[in-house]
Amino acid sequence: MSASIHPEAPKAAFPLIKEELKKQIPRISLLVALSLLGAGVGLVQPLLFKQLLDTAIPAADVRLIGLLLVGMVAVPILSAGFASANQYLRAYIGEGVAQRLRQDLYDHLLFVRLADLERFKTGEHIYRLTRSCGLIGEVFVGQHLLPLVMNAILLIGTLSAMTWLHWRLSFLALLVFPLSLLLTLKTRNYTQNLYRELSKTLEWGESYLNELFPGQRTVRAFNAEAYEKARWGEWLTEHRRIKAKVSAFHELIRIVMPESINYVVTGLVFAYGAFEVVQGSLTIGSLVAFVAYLPRAYAVLQTLLGAQVNLQEARVNAQKVDSLFALAREPSGDKVLPSDPASDEWGTAVNPLPLGAALSFYRVSFDYGRGDFGARDLTFHAAPGEFIGIVGPSGGGKSTIIDLIMGFYIPQFGTISIDGIDLRKLSLNSLRSQIGLVPQDLFLWNDSISRNINYPARIDDVGTSADAARAAQIDDFITGLPDGYRTIVGERGLRLSRGERQRLAIARALQQRPRLLLLDEATSALDALTEQKVRAAFEKARAGRTAIVVAHRLSTIRNADRILVIDQGRIVETGNQDELLSRGGLFADLYKAQSFDLPAIAL
Ligand SMILES: Nc1ncnc2c1ncn2[C@@H]1O[C@H](COP(=O)(O)OP(=O)(O)OP(=O)(O)O)[C@@H](O)[C@H]1O
Ligand SMILES: [Mg+2]
Repeated sequence: MSASIHPEAPKAAFPLIKEELKKQIPRISLLVALSLLGAGVGLVQPLLFKQLLDTAIPAADVRLIGLLLVGMVAVPILSAGFASANQYLRAYIGEGVAQRLRQDLYDHLLFVRLADLERFKTGEHIYRLTRSCGLIGEVFVGQHLLPLVMNAILLIGTLSAMTWLHWRLSFLALLVFPLSLLLTLKTRNYTQNLYRELSKTLEWGESYLNELFPGQRTVRAFNAEAYEKARWGEWLTEHRRIKAKVSAFHELIRIVMPESINYVVTGLVFAYGAFEVVQGSLTIGSLVAFVAYLPRAYAVLQTLLGAQVNLQEARVNAQKVDSLFALAREPSGDKVLPSDPASDEWGTAVNPLPLGAALSFYRVSFDYGRGDFGARDLTFHAAPGEFIGIVGPSGGGKSTIIDLIMGFYIPQFGTISIDGIDLRKLSLNSLRSQIGLVPQDLFLWNDSISRNINYPARIDDVGTSADAARAAQIDDFITGLPDGYRTIVGERGLRLSRGERQRLAIARALQQRPRLLLLDEATSALDALTEQKVRAAFEKARAGRTAIVVAHRLSTIRNADRILVIDQGRIVETGNQDELLSRGGLFADLYKAQSFDLPAIAL
């Protein structure tokens, strides 16, 4: 249902640049003012040459020569000052655009539906959040777009001065602009493809490294170092090839082309100028001043061409950013999915009563999109305070049920309700704040034990976390560590054993003081004795709470009020342990297998 809904118009990189630049108008005005001043000062220098050659030297005016010399020293110093202020402002504005893009994209990704988010690799998310946004903000806006604006101003000044000196020569010099622009426009598609290739290669590298380091044990266990080395080597070769190509192309368009054009034009101007000097219609001073302006015009040309090339790079990266912005979001705040699937307005959440946490599934079916249902026609009810166990073969759909309760995925059919309220009418925020989840794929932050238990509150206060830790049977272990609750657990909790991680995750779930406890294989890695202790503590902790516990280890759910046996997405049996055992079905088989009372299996 409503899989493609996007009630808020998606943001996009270029409109965001515009919006951000509008906000920065005061700074941009200051930049323009500084540029005008800088340009004005810069334009004086050639005129000083003209004065020196045409007036001061012929008149042998030593005082004027001295003054002109002072001017020739002061002007570049002033220019340098203006240029530094300019640089800083430009970078600051460009970084502002990058910051805005990064912030908005990040905010968006935090709310994108998991199913959509997971279609992209972690490396792609990281590349786009860091490099793509940077290339658009810092590089395109800061180093190209703004200089282009500044240079346009400079160009007007330079052209006026040149035309004032000699309009026929100016016309000659101006010819280069349309010619170079035409060339860059003709190479636009080639440039885009080049940048597309480059960013694809960079994203691949980022994604690869992101998988490689967490996977180091597997790499070494399978003696795969040589294989990985070859893969990395291939990437490096490809990276080098495409980088060299991009750099060479960049240089060609930005440096070589304008430089050669500049040489040719300078030659032409000198030749034609010499002709006019001979004719007596141009002074040597004017010709020298005119030629002194040419590098300025050339600098503008260079910026123009650079911006053209860079625009293509920004476009490619904007497309990448936009494809993330286009992902559908979960409703946030007090918003919920629209009640009418055809509507494209979020609904407003029902204000929930403090949840008593009665949980109902009514004819719930969910398909991950593979065509085979992860959940099929599930109907069951958990009264407040009830303890429901879920068992069944691997891949049967147990975790899928947990994910549906959490609102990570939305079922295509049927209704899930809590206290009689359809989950779709509850804000995800209020729903999740009532649930304590221990997911199957545990995740811990590379932070202290107490901060992990108190997550997301960044508090080191041991007092509050110790109760939860005691209930999860992990307190003794923690206090035995040299740094106790301040021990850093390593990335994803890797410095702890799996059983320790599980108990820490249980403590974190209990710390939320949830009304509904969801445990997915939370005791699978515990030895039988510890599991018994956790079970006893869990019995106490679940008082007043509804608990849904997925377990392969059947002892964990021995005391469940009801057990659902899930196979191929369906509830195939239901009842308490005794009822299920006496039925002699799938549960009884699983039970027998775990009691070492194995039925004969033909191998
Ligand atoms: N993100 C996903 N995308 C596509 N299919 C998925 C996804 N997650 C799970 N599945 C599929 O849905 C089915 C049910 O998976 P689920 O994780 O719910 O099984 P489970 O009963 O929890 O298994 P286990 O006991 O091994 O944890 C499986 O066939 C699985 O391959
Ligand atoms: Mg599972």
